[in-house]
Amino acid sequence: MNILILGGGGREHALAWAIRQNPKCDRLIVAPGNAGIAGVAECADLDILSRAQVLEFAQENAIDFVIIGPEAPLAAGVSDALRDAGFLVFGPSQAAAQLEASKAFTKQICDACGAPTAAWRRFDAAAPARDYVTAQGAPIVIKADGLAAGKGVTVAETVEQAHAAIDAIFEGAFGDTSVVIEEFMAGEEASFFILSDGTDCLPIGTAQDHKRVGDGDTGPNTGGMGAYSPAPVLSQAIQDQVMAQIVRPTIATMAEKGMPFQGVLYAGLMIEQGRARLVEYNVRFGDPECQVLMMRLGAQALDLLLACAQGRLAEARITWADDHALTVVMAANGYPGSYEKGSRINGLDSLPETSFQMTFHAGTARKDGAILATGGRVLACTGRGATLAEAHQRAYALIDAIDWPQGFCRRDIGWRAL
Ligand code: AMP
Ligand code: GLY
Repeated sequence: MNILILGGGGREHALAWAIRQNPKCDRLIVAPGNAGIAGVAECADLDILSRAQVLEFAQENAIDFVIIGPEAPLAAGVSDALRDAGFLVFGPSQAAAQLEASKAFTKQICDACGAPTAAWRRFDAAAPARDYVTAQGAPIVIKADGLAAGKGVTVAETVEQAHAAIDAIFEGAFGDTSVVIEEFMAGEEASFFILSDGTDCLPIGTAQDHKRVGDGDTGPNTGGMGAYSPAPVLSQAIQDQVMAQIVRPTIATMAEKGMPFQGVLYAGLMIEQGRARLVEYNVRFGDPECQVLMMRLGAQALDLLLACAQGRLAEARITWADDHALTVVMAANGYPGSYEKGSRINGLDSLPETSFQMTFHAGTARKDGAILATGGRVLACTGRGATLAEAHQRAYALIDAIDWPQGFCRRDIGWRAL
């Protein structure tokens, strides 16, 4: 098969790394890719938000299967354009991608199918939203309705903070959007990844990430500084509850509404007293969660994604090893605030690249033979082992072999489970 992956982060490097190992994969192209991805695939310079460009590229290169990594092309309807032209695609339609693109949409789906989640209200103007917060009190959660690159959520500890967040949203901080106000849920967060072909569902793993930039879960939120899989808090009993009360009802409701969901559903969950409630859905793999999932699934990932895209999930099976994976993100000094681009990373060439240790690239480019940092999150050093402690040791061994003074990482990834 000729396979095209859209995206150029650590998630797409992990997908490409796993898929490359499957003998079904003949030619693998990643657009736009990065310096690490160039080691396992061809990289193509392409505007992945342009339906016309992606379609033309797929036609010219006789692509048999397109895998869409990030949410932006999904929200832009790139999967619809490809599917309408007869291509096999992994990733939901623009309509189904509303499960990530609109918080209010997801809440309405939850209400329609009775999925447990935080109580919520939506407002189109600041004054009634402020009044509602005053009446409810704090803590309370304020969200911009649309896609906000992970920055549209404020967990307000006081009514004043909540009012300020509402004002910022209506002053246009996230474009023209309404506000969703939610009950604050206490508990432990974890992520659950489920493939769906629109009808059937197949869980493909659990993970926990670390959103705060600093050790001990301190400092501002980031896209994720590390992750590990499996997440012990998501016991089999809780996974069963989530499938029965949240995921299957969501998939059935989406199909009933004429928006069947095909792709990976990433359920962000809050677990308290042995019961999970939905925090949010994403309609793509998490980054860096994908790195630990792919490390555990390996080459069979392609068979699973294919079964999903072809509507054959009912017959798909996963072969699980009794293993653990852990990934540590190296980011540019200053991230998630402003940071410098273009610093040189040394020591990457001599690192092991095995099914137990992989350094996935998130934001890198090659120039004159050197690897340069080009993003905020730059590398995801990933280890796999029989225990989480072994995976942890292997991931940090990679970190310690990298020479990059302009980068940093958290030293405590996995602390909760270790
Ligand atoms: P979201 O973008 O919806 O995932 O929200 C980002 C983060 O805010 C989540 O990962 C949670 O840590 C937190 N959060 C969102 N909604 C709630 C809620 N209703 N209660 C408690 N924390 C929340
Ligand atoms: N690591 C969080 C996300 O991918 O949304």
